[in-house]
Amino acid sequence: MITKRTLLITGGAGFIGSHVVRRFVKKYPDYKIVNADKLTYAGNLGNLTDIEHEPNYYFRRIDIVDKQAVNTLFSEFGFDGVIHLAAESHVDRSITSPDEFIQTNIIGTVNLLTAFRDAIPGSDARKLFYHISTDEVYGSLEHGGYFTEQTAYDPRSPYSASKASSDHMVRAFGNTYNLPFVISNCSNNFGPNQFPEKLIPLTINNIKTSKVIPVYGKGENIRDWLYVEDHASAIDIIFHNGQPGHTYNVGGDNERKNIDLVHLLCCIMDEKLGRALGSSEKLITFVTDRAGHDLRYAIDSSKIRKELGWKPSVSFEQGMRMTVDWYLANEKWLEAIVSGAYSKYYEKMYGNRGPSVKK
Ligand code: NAD
Ligand code: DAU
Repeated sequence: MITKRTLLITGGAGFIGSHVVRRFVKKYPDYKIVNADKLTYAGNLGNLTDIEHEPNYYFRRIDIVDKQAVNTLFSEFGFDGVIHLAAESHVDRSITSPDEFIQTNIIGTVNLLTAFRDAIPGSDARKLFYHISTDEVYGSLEHGGYFTEQTAYDPRSPYSASKASSDHMVRAFGNTYNLPFVISNCSNNFGPNQFPEKLIPLTINNIKTSKVIPVYGKGENIRDWLYVEDHASAIDIIFHNGQPGHTYNVGGDNERKNIDLVHLLCCIMDEKLGRALGSSEKLITFVTDRAGHDLRYAIDSSKIRKELGWKPSVSFEQGMRMTVDWYLANEKWLEAIVSGAYSKYYEKMYGNRGPSVKK
């Protein structure tokens, strides 16, 4: 088969990246897909066992902070497109140790931008650097409203500040060196293969093992949730049809207070595990709040819906049920994670976290 495109997908062994890699490998057999990932604690090649032997799939273990390694990778493959997902992605970890976030999210992104700028002639019409970003760069909606593509940046955690910096660098390379780029800023993803440090898989795992469910503060914080496969479909559409130089907000129109989401998960888990309705609720424990905890995120995704015809295919409750089913059916995947360094992480993050309010 003639190779039509050679794409670099960074962070393809992580949660969202693995869904994007799978989608592209299967849907575009005439594209060469190179997954470059450092395999940090969050990277797991076990997420990709079903496609690892496909002839159009390649994996390279690369730290994007290592400039020389990045340049060598670009010389080896001569990419005409980059979809950049590799990042340190967990807000709580950025609060306890921001350094890695500066290195990977900012320096790593600049290394990729520089290599891509220098490797491919600007005249190649297919050339595109697609940067995957987050709604957290816009800050916190304390007084209502929605994040649009015009909302001013106001990052408030080391994680979101590092992502905002990387967005700025992408736009600066576009403006200064005419590097064709697109950026998308997405809301909270959920679904299979998410590392159980994040709210939904952590809650599922704790209910399963009858451990307390730690809800920060009063559980009043609001997030907008999108099923991960729907983010992957948005990335596909933006990569192929997005306007160079443009930004697209991606969201599910599924705003939920954390406490309401946890209640729903408790009900679904009781049903699936055959436990008496109400038994998981007893595990809910309100704990000390996250420092600088953003109150509300909500995405206005009308631009991608109108201009590119994208819409989510999975409803919130349907997605939650599919997610629970996946975690219950993939006990080995979960066990392999929680039996390792995860227990140390959990003790460090939650061991001394006192109660916040009485239930
Ligand atoms: P994740 O933490 O599950 O995966 C990150 C991946 O990047 C891992 O495979 C890890 O090994 C790899 N990586 C980390 N540092 C690296 C380095 N120095 N070099 C090479 N690889 C490295 O993250 P995720 O939740 O899948 O998020 C992916 C991207 O999407 C991130 O850029 C994140 O900011 C963005 N995003 C995430 C969400 C969400 O809800 N999870 C929402 C919007 C945007
Ligand atoms: O909005 C997009 C962002 O969503 C992405 O950019 C990040 O990479 C991704 O991690 C996610 O960030 P959040 O901080 O919103 O996700 P997290 O699952 O960590 O937390 C969701 C909400 O739940 C948040 O308000 C904090 C709260 N929480 C989280 C954990 C881990 C709890 O109440 N208890 C917990 O134990």
